[in-house]
This record gives sequence, C-alpha cells and structure tokens, in this order.
Amino acid sequence: MTKKIAVLAGDGIGQEIMDQAIKVLKAMNLDLTFEEGLVGGVAYAATGHPLPEKTLKLAKESDAVLFGAVGDFKYDHLERSLRPEQAILGLRKALGLFVNLRPAICYPELTNASTLKPEVVSGLDLLIVRELTGDVYFGKPRGRRQCPDGPFEGALEGFDTMRYSVPEIERIAHVAFKAAMGRSKHLTSVDKANVLETSQVWRDVMTRISKEYPEVEFDQMYVDNAAMQLVRAPKKLDVLVTGNLFGDILSDEAAMLTGSIGMLASAALNDRKQGLYEPSHGSAPDIAGKNIANPIAQILSAAMMLRYSLDMPEKALQIENAVKKVLAQGYRTVDIWSEGCKKVSCSEMGDAVKAAL
Ligand code: IPM
Ligand code: MG
Repeated sequence: MTKKIAVLAGDGIGQEIMDQAIKVLKAMNLDLTFEEGLVGGVAYAATGHPLPEKTLKLAKESDAVLFGAVGDFKYDHLERSLRPEQAILGLRKALGLFVNLRPAICYPELTNASTLKPEVVSGLDLLIVRELTGDVYFGKPRGRRQCPDGPFEGALEGFDTMRYSVPEIERIAHVAFKAAMGRSKHLTSVDKANVLETSQVWRDVMTRISKEYPEVEFDQMYVDNAAMQLVRAPKKLDVLVTGNLFGDILSDEAAMLTGSIGMLASAALNDRKQGLYEPSHGSAPDIAGKNIANPIAQILSAAMMLRYSLDMPEKALQIENAVKKVLAQGYRTVDIWSEGCKKVSCSEMGDAVKAAL
C-alpha cells in the first residue's frame, strides 16, 4: 500500500536539506507519496500561525512526517505561542509523539571533527531515549505572576511546572528497555531524584520496570553526573533514558561528541508507529540559501523513517550504507571538511549519496 509522507521543510536551511532527502528517497523507487506543508516561520509569514490547521491535518493523515527545521531570528520578538518553535511542540503534542530517539554516532572518518580526544569518542554509538510530551515543557500551570512569598514577595516571577505521571514514565521505560534489549543490554536512566519529587517518582517507576527486564544491566544517574560522564567516558554508556528537559540538554551534548551535529538524525514516535523525523540540528538561518549546509542528518532522518514508521529496514540500511560510503570516498560539506577531503555543496552531497545507493 502506498504510504503518505508529509514533507515539512520549514525555515532556514530546512528547504535545501529536505530537497536532498527527497532526492534520495525518490531515487529508491519506493511506494511513497509526498505532500508538502508549511511549518514554522514561513507558515507564520504566510498564514499568521506557525502550525496552520491545514499542516496539522496533513501530518495527522500521513504515515510519517519528514521535518526539516524551524526558527529564525526575525521571529524571536513574537509572543511565545506564535514562535516557529511552537510548531514542533504542537506537532509532538497533537500526534502524541512521546518517544524521541536520538542516536549519537561518531563515524570513524569524522573522529577528528570532535572537540574531544579521538580515543574518547572513536567508535561511539549512543542512543538517547528522550520522553517528549511531558515534563516542564508542557506542565501546567505556567506563566507569570506576583511572587507569593519570600524576600521577593510581590515581584514579578516566571514559573513552569515540572511533572510526570506514573503511566507516562511506564510507557517510555518500556520503550527504553526494549531498545536496550535490541542493543548491548545496558540502560542508564537519568534524573535528578536527589532534589526533585518528579524525578523520585521517575526513579521509582524505572526501578520497578527494570525487574521485568532482568537481562538488561540497569543503572541510574543524576543528570549533573550524566552530563559529566558524557564527556569523560561516553563509551561506557549505551542507551540513556530521560525526561523531556534533561533529554533536550543531554542530546545536544551527545551530538557534539560526534563532532558534527549536521550528521545526526532523530525520530519522534507515538504508539501507532506514526513518526516525525528530523535532523537534530536547527534551522541555521545564518547559512540558509547558500547551498553549503550538511544534508546528511536530514537524509539519515529519512532512513529512520523507513525503519520505524514504514517497515522498510533494509531500505533504511541502504541509505545508511550510502552515507558511510560517501564519507569513505572523502566527500565533506564544509562543517565536517578537513585537509585532503573533497569539499562539496549541500546539493552535491545529496547527489553523492544518491549515486552511492
Ligand atoms: C529539540 C529542540 C526543541 C526542543 C525546540 C526547538 C522547541 O531544541 O528538538 O531539541 O526544545 O525540544
Ligand atoms: Mg534541543
């Protein structure tokens, strides 16, 4: 049966990197249809909202969403509900995309691109499982009010609510333990249970669920320690599971271990295998339109889409192998370029991956 893909390129470099991913997918002659939708700042400019009804409808009706990036300095002055970032948060919530898979892989050819010592990162292959629809990101109440007590009573304060319910933790726990079962059977849960009640509930649930996976070596770390271990000895970690806020921060940190955020894909999934696939990096408005962005994260996001939402694991592998091949052939966009390699543009990189299929 033909599968429908919603193509939401968004802002900044979104369109140019998306073009490369679509080029690669089309070259594979898969039974897919593509429908484009407006999202982010470009959607705001055209319709007055970063996530127009029409786009939301398209996303809901599709088997998967291939997402580029959103955000641009020129929209930073808008009230929060109209900012481009709200489009991605709105899609996550509306589609119930509670699982965020963020692999951090250090490709051998790019070991020197990391700011860390090669021996610390070479061969790194880490998976962060981030809960994506709960936590302080969506907790209510939130807003601004007069400080109710203490030395600053009466002053304006901003506040948000960190929260997780037991069933929300249980479902992400099962996803993470299953992911660990499919890899090296080692899972680390990250929280801040020494301070936060939300984290204590998280830890209690994780501990209980761990009993159902006796084969998995399970440990728990406070987030400050996890941040440190990630740069000290990242290869001692394999799968990390954590809440929305800590996952946001740690996944950027993990990305830098690989030296190249332009290489990292991510998947956001719901319980129906519907997913949104996007590069881990942002919209990079400073280099937009110059045809120099690295399209590999977007291309690898398309591969993840084939694997997790469209049941085409061998096709996913075909793309991933093509990417490895172009790296081995020495093709590099400027962000990952080093002496002796072939410097290519965004579209040339797309062509190279297509040719390597
Ligand atoms: C991410 C981003 C988003 C987040 C922003 C754009 C809302 O940083 O996907 O990591 O905070 O989740
Ligand atoms: Mg982030």
